[in-house]
Amino acid sequence: DKGSHKHFMAKEIHEQPTVMAYALSHYTVTDANGVKPAPLALDFRDYDRVVIVACGTAYLAGMVAKYWFEQIARMPVEIDVASEFRYREPPVSPRTLAVFVSQSGETADTLAALRYMKGKAARIVGIVNVSESSIARESDLVLPIHAGVEIGVASTKAFTCQLTVLAVLAVMAARQTGQIDAAREGALMSALETVPGAMADLLATESRLGAICWELSKAQDVLFLGRGAMYPLALEGALKLKEISYIHAEGYASGELKHGPIALIDETVPVIVMAPTDPLFDKTVSNMHEVMARGGRILLLSDETGLAHAGQDVWERIRLPRVDPFVAPILYAVPAQLLAYHTAVTKGTDVDQPRNLAKSVTVE
Ligand code: M6R
Repeated sequence: DKGSHKHFMAKEIHEQPTVMAYALSHYTVTDANGVKPAPLALDFRDYDRVVIVACGTAYLAGMVAKYWFEQIARMPVEIDVASEFRYREPPVSPRTLAVFVSQSGETADTLAALRYMKGKAARIVGIVNVSESSIARESDLVLPIHAGVEIGVASTKAFTCQLTVLAVLAVMAARQTGQIDAAREGALMSALETVPGAMADLLATESRLGAICWELSKAQDVLFLGRGAMYPLALEGALKLKEISYIHAEGYASGELKHGPIALIDETVPVIVMAPTDPLFDKTVSNMHEVMARGGRILLLSDETGLAHAGQDVWERIRLPRVDPFVAPILYAVPAQLLAYHTAVTKGTDVDQPRNLAKSVTVE
């Protein structure tokens, strides 16, 4: 049932404040000292490294997690798409924690990669939405994301709930390995708890996207840029847009722009920059100016401070609530989804059942 929404995708986008809070409630405890990760049968001191394997949007959630684990917990993380991982037959050191992320829990390549890791990795963790799935059954530890049934082929609420679980794990790892103290742990967990409210505030401004998406719907090509943990979000924005609107879109790390893609820039290629106020913001602003100097049109997604610093020459702006940079990738998933959704609706494509795609890819 779509409720009052035209598509399942719209319904699932709008469910995110609720389901993210629900997911978080399963992975947190609050005591007199504040909010902490809930105890899990998982001790990161037992592992030297983490390998995350997944496909599509779940892979991009894993890629954000790589930034989190490396920055906060100082743990080395390898991330790969399952179809590559399984055939490159990578050597696996014994103190490896293997993490498989899958909404359906049935993706053939991800399951095959999991089977490859059996007997090689110290432990296999499945982060799934469907708890009765093959990946759940074959994991040593199952961490459900609690997103509820996701029907739209484009993954939305599963992505933000995957990120939620991965963020809690990163904080847990950092605390267990002594990289952060109790105060920092509390601050990071509190930052996570602000996201559902910020998502709801953002969703309340959705109607402002109509004019922007009408312009995007006329584009042949769109570039998405982001730095640091926002780079996977740029990839996710591009994946969502191509998947449901059939517009060619590419995500790039902002710093890679001058190594090739800048050759594409002219007034017909909108460039969507995802840049919350964070320590890398000024570098992204200079990349933006390189685009504008070549006649490129910038759509900037940032908070009030970032928008004010970016100057007057950007083509369009989307203002997001300001959050701790740690949680920004979760919040910025929502405008990425909305841009794809409204552009697709403007074009009249089949949003919930895009051509050539299946919800669950059970053949390789
Ligand atoms: O069920 P899974 O999470 O394993 O699926 C992985 C991908 O097939 C999936 O995320 C796909 O990329 C989505 N259609 C993206 O919106």
